[in-house]
Amino acid sequence: MTFPYTERVLDHFKNPRNVGKLDDSNAKATEGSPACGDMVSVYLKVNDETKKIEDIKFESYGCASNIATGSIITELAKGKTLDEAKDISWKQASEELGGLPAIKAHCSVLAVDGLRAAIENYEETHGMVKERKPTTVEEVRRRLKKVMNPLVGLDLVKTELVTGIMIEKGKVTVAIDLPATNQFAHNIHEEVMEKISPLWDVNEVEVRFTE
Ligand code: FES
Repeated sequence: MTFPYTERVLDHFKNPRNVGKLDDSNAKATEGSPACGDMVSVYLKVNDETKKIEDIKFESYGCASNIATGSIITELAKGKTLDEAKDISWKQASEELGGLPAIKAHCSVLAVDGLRAAIENYEETHGMVKERKPTTVEEVRRRLKKVMNPLVGLDLVKTELVTGIMIEKGKVTVAIDLPATNQFAHNIHEEVMEKISPLWDVNEVEVRFTE
């Protein structure tokens, strides 16, 4: 099947801007799309005084639309304050690219979600969260929906790998129905830590695999 990509999409796909990791980043996030099993990581270097995004890079394991959107949103976000960058929408990204096929809308949503999650990560790790609600099991579950189960390319919650979530005195324990010796256990552990640790009232995260 061929998709009617615009010149601009093809340009950003073939020559993506701001690709790679950022060694001196102070915020990052990885988002996965249950729709297609693809992932995008966004790294930010935010000026702690001005809250401006001084540098930004992304890595995509997605399709051409996802790579092109990642490229365009990093261009749009660079130099903006965090609040300004929050307003970048997938619709705006898609318009900047001259339009994307409707079937590919989720690919640009994924890239924009990656940017928003990286901004959220900065705010959470720099004491900028205004509404400090106590962490609930629902919130932990919501975040676990963003951790992929690489065995099937869907999230941990949807594939029923999460068998328990306990919160006690700042410690969150997540039980995963997978042996610790599984080849993906290490990755899943890292990703769960990455999603749950930044919560403002969480000081310890334990991921329990089955024996
Ligand atoms: Fe998965 Fe585009 S089809 S990111």
